[in-house]
Amino acid sequence: MRHWTQIGEASIPGSEKSIFLVRGKDDFFIKLSGGQELMNTRKHGSEDALGALPCQKLSHPETACVLIGGLGMGFTLAAALAELGPGARVTVAELIPEVVEWNHGPLGDCSGRPLDDPRTRVYVGDVAQLLREKRNDFDVIALDIDNGPEGLTRNTNSWIYSEQGISATVQALKPAGIVSYWSVSADQRFSDRLKRHGLKVEEISVYAHGAKGARHTIWLATNGPGCLRPVTVDP
Ligand SMILES: C[S@@+](CC[C@H](N)C(=O)[O-])C[C@H]1O[C@@H](n2cnc3c(N)ncnc32)[C@H](O)[C@@H]1O
Repeated sequence: MRHWTQIGEASIPGSEKSIFLVRGKDDFFIKLSGGQELMNTRKHGSEDALGALPCQKLSHPETACVLIGGLGMGFTLAAALAELGPGARVTVAELIPEVVEWNHGPLGDCSGRPLDDPRTRVYVGDVAQLLREKRNDFDVIALDIDNGPEGLTRNTNSWIYSEQGISATVQALKPAGIVSYWSVSADQRFSDRLKRHGLKVEEISVYAHGAKGARHTIWLATNGPGCLRPVTVDP
């Protein structure tokens, strides 16, 4: 007997692909056209870490200003909110409007309904647009918009991991700000690229679920004290 039902579908702007929301017996899945699984509600250890780890390093979490891209199933957003105080503000940028609807609807209970938190603001659009526009705005920027620097599901997302994207991200950070990136696997070239921007970089291997099995990579990079001056790269 089949234990899953497709309950939502959305096209990915700037791509030929679509995503599908699937309800299983006890879990939800977001899948890509062709059946590849993007994520599920059972395994989110590394998504939690992406939001929690940089916020735990803040000197003033009670009033911090945080940007998260994208929303997905809301775990990174919920984990960041859990580390922040009542005066904090978290903007979550999500490219696909249906993903926001799904989180207001059936997905919301899986992550504790972080969209209902009064500290949350939703930006429906490309997080790259915010990174290009903002200057000196965020204490933390947490980015999980694709598989990582390699193997992208949406080609235009490669800008985020490029020299120009990193430069814009550093400029969107406040002094001593922290950016965290999620990736399905390690990538030495990306680590080196972050360091070339004068950032102090930690590359952390995090279990996808529990304390064994698959691991994902999280980079924490800061322009805080002791760092070299960020390089300027023309967009
Ligand atoms: C792997 S999921 C994020 C999972 C999330 N960390 C969580 O805790 O559930 C990637 C999300 O980023 C969104 N996305 C992809 N490209 C984006 C972009 N350029 N700007 C904003 N959101 C984007 C996707 O629609 C998807 O919802």
